[in-house]
Amino acid sequence: MDIFRIEGPVKLSGSVRVNGSKNAALPIMAAALLAPGKSVIKSVPYLLDISVCEELLASLGCKIERKENRDLHIDATTIDNPVGEYDIVRKMRASICILGPLLARCNRVEVSMPGGCAIGDRPVNLHIRGLEALGAKVHLKNGYIIAEAPNGLTGKEIFMGGPFGSTVLGTANVLMAAVLAKGRTVIESAACEPEVSDLANFLNKMGAKISGIGSPHLIIDGVKELHPVEYEVIPDRIEAGTFMAAAAITESELTIEHCQLGDLMAVVEKLREIGVNVEPSGNGCVVSRTGPMKPTDITTQPYPGFPTDLQAQFMSLLALAKGNSFVIEKIFPDRFMHVAELNRMAADLRKEGQIVIVAGVEKLIAAPVMASDLRASAALVLAGMAAEGTTIINRVYHIDRGYEKIEERLNPLGAKIFREKE
Ligand code: EPU
Repeated sequence: MDIFRIEGPVKLSGSVRVNGSKNAALPIMAAALLAPGKSVIKSVPYLLDISVCEELLASLGCKIERKENRDLHIDATTIDNPVGEYDIVRKMRASICILGPLLARCNRVEVSMPGGCAIGDRPVNLHIRGLEALGAKVHLKNGYIIAEAPNGLTGKEIFMGGPFGSTVLGTANVLMAAVLAKGRTVIESAACEPEVSDLANFLNKMGAKISGIGSPHLIIDGVKELHPVEYEVIPDRIEAGTFMAAAAITESELTIEHCQLGDLMAVVEKLREIGVNVEPSGNGCVVSRTGPMKPTDITTQPYPGFPTDLQAQFMSLLALAKGNSFVIEKIFPDRFMHVAELNRMAADLRKEGQIVIVAGVEKLIAAPVMASDLRASAALVLAGMAAEGTTIINRVYHIDRGYEKIEERLNPLGAKIFREKE
């Protein structure tokens, strides 16, 4: 297994380009199942999760071709096995997003029920409720969700809100099922994340009729068929936010290219509040810090609120602020595996339920630590670049799930991150 050896503290400088969004690409890859023929998805990053999704689509009958230029060709002419097998689904929870498109295209789908993960339970009740509302019969057998609609799906008004707000992949699943349903579907309390809008734009390019994109009120007028298309996914706002945090934690200046600042308003606002400069520039921004960081409060919320996928990285930042901060996790109340690891690096974090009290310290000190999930690993990489000494991060495969060769992106900027065998 690979580990990272990180030497710190370092200063960064230069320019880094943000890749296409993982969380936009995954449902869009699943949506390609809706149209027989070859779709080309552009700007798809080389990530472990994307490879798992390619494996999943191939297991259903698709032909997948990867081009050097990050184009991904998905030929969905034949779908002869509408089954998401346990062995693939267990590797990536996002596999659940084949449920909607396969049901719409094949009238039947079986998908292994995804388990929990390091960030919490992760139920799929809202996905199922949404598909049932469209007329599917859903039951669970031997750990598989089996959904059937022998006579096709019919549009309906559906409320997608749950105890923690809307659901991103649940909205994606219902959207992908509804585009081929008879009549009009209205999704109320739809997730408004830019990745959902990107999926809706992809579906419209394929011939779907979706309006209200970007709002919690999506209207879908079902069409008879969709056609394959070429489409470029949006830049990854979470990767962009992670690079912003890298500039901030190392007290450096970085130019971040190919980043939609409009998708990161809550994050930019927090950075400015703690004393980090963010200036729009070209197709991205310049992020810099020269003085000490001020403490703040962060509450994660559905978009356009502060994203849960940047909570861990910002906890590393606040660990070095002058004073006490609060971090409140409202999306995944158990997403705090990084707390104990950051404390091993001399942070002063105290978890009280879904709140972490962050007492700022003068410096972080390197230590051997364990990556537990994707974003927690990113938080440890950030902390490692700021900490004094040699940090060892175990289980870096977690970071490879969502950041393409992070060491090869950060080292040219001045980081000292070395991938080694355990
Ligand atoms: N929820 C339910 N029932 C459901 C579905 C969700 O109660 O049927 C709850 C969840 O337990 C959670 C909340 O609703 O408390 C929101 O979960 P959501 O369904 O929105 O999460 P997701 O769609 O499974 C996506 C991203 C996550 C990101 C969340 C929240 C992908 C592939 N995953 O997950 O990304 O944290 O939305 O924004 O898009 C990551 O990239 O590291 C990652 C975990």
